[in-house]
Amino acid sequence: MNSFALLEKLCNAHGMSGYEDEVRELISSEIEEFADSIKTDRMGNLIAVKKGDEKKVMLASHMDEIGFMVKHVEEKGFLRVTPIGGWFSQTILNQRVFVHTKDGKVTGVFGCKPPHIMKDEERKKVVKVEDMFVDVGAESKDEVEEMGIEIGSPVTMDRELSRLGKNRITGKAIDDRAGVAAVIEVFRESECDATLYAVFTVQEEVGLKGARTSAFSINPDIAIAVDVCVATDFPGVSVNQEINLGKGPAITVADASGRGIIAHRNVLNLLRDTAEKNKIPYQLEVGEGGTTDATAIHLTREGIPSGVVSIPARYIHTPVEVIDLKDYSNTVKLLIKSLERCEKYMKF
Ligand code: CO
Ligand code: ZN
Repeated sequence: MNSFALLEKLCNAHGMSGYEDEVRELISSEIEEFADSIKTDRMGNLIAVKKGDEKKVMLASHMDEIGFMVKHVEEKGFLRVTPIGGWFSQTILNQRVFVHTKDGKVTGVFGCKPPHIMKDEERKKVVKVEDMFVDVGAESKDEVEEMGIEIGSPVTMDRELSRLGKNRITGKAIDDRAGVAAVIEVFRESECDATLYAVFTVQEEVGLKGARTSAFSINPDIAIAVDVCVATDFPGVSVNQEINLGKGPAITVADASGRGIIAHRNVLNLLRDTAEKNKIPYQLEVGEGGTTDATAIHLTREGIPSGVVSIPARYIHTPVEVIDLKDYSNTVKLLIKSLERCEKYMKF
């Protein structure tokens, strides 16, 4: 199958943190036939294993996407929600969403006043999420209940993946379904001597939770998180840092100014040497905000040497995230080649 089709299926699936079921089933169906074993652990992480020797390497990508949770239904039928994960409130207004119920998806919209009736001061203000509401077309609280919506129902963005220009794609949840798709492709093709654990983690966006527990149970010799990172190549970005779309996967040296992870030198060298040897373009990343599953993994047990490979992405945590498919395929290639020689870097 081509990569776009796989990305499309994964990004269009819905799986807010803690409610990753649909995504997990999809991944399972894509990977099952390539795995020696596959299981869902108690937290909900999906773990696929390809048997090799006694050395263990773990790849982690998160299945969850940011969303909202219904916290209150008003008499007139409007929903109040709490954000799950890091949203910038300005990106939420007037988006179309799905409210997930046991009977299926209900369409809703984040409503907002039209400019006609806004006061001058109001136009300049950022609307807070707590002041927003979701309109599901109901005329009353009772009608909302009849729709199957209740306190705790998850809400995700309604947005389909689309091509953008020659090599790019745009959509929701590219963070981190692009990483998930890459790990699926790597798992299918990998010829790694070590035993490979592909872990599709839950609840990354709300505190790296699934990575923490799965790393403990697997106890790998090394681990690599596969995620997206913040591209800085568009207007208005003023950080003194350069991550460009189309210039290859980003290899993290440190993120969150070192408070997230400082990549283990062996894993960093494995990734860099492999990129150099195979002439795969790459970019080095020292990030100041944002982190990945590797941050939780590397502090597991007595410490697990870990690193991060990311696909540069614009407009992360919006429904219009953008990545370049060349970066995506170079990420897949870098990981496949790295796995082939990873045992050389397991001497500590
Ligand atoms: Co994210
Ligand atoms: Zn992510």
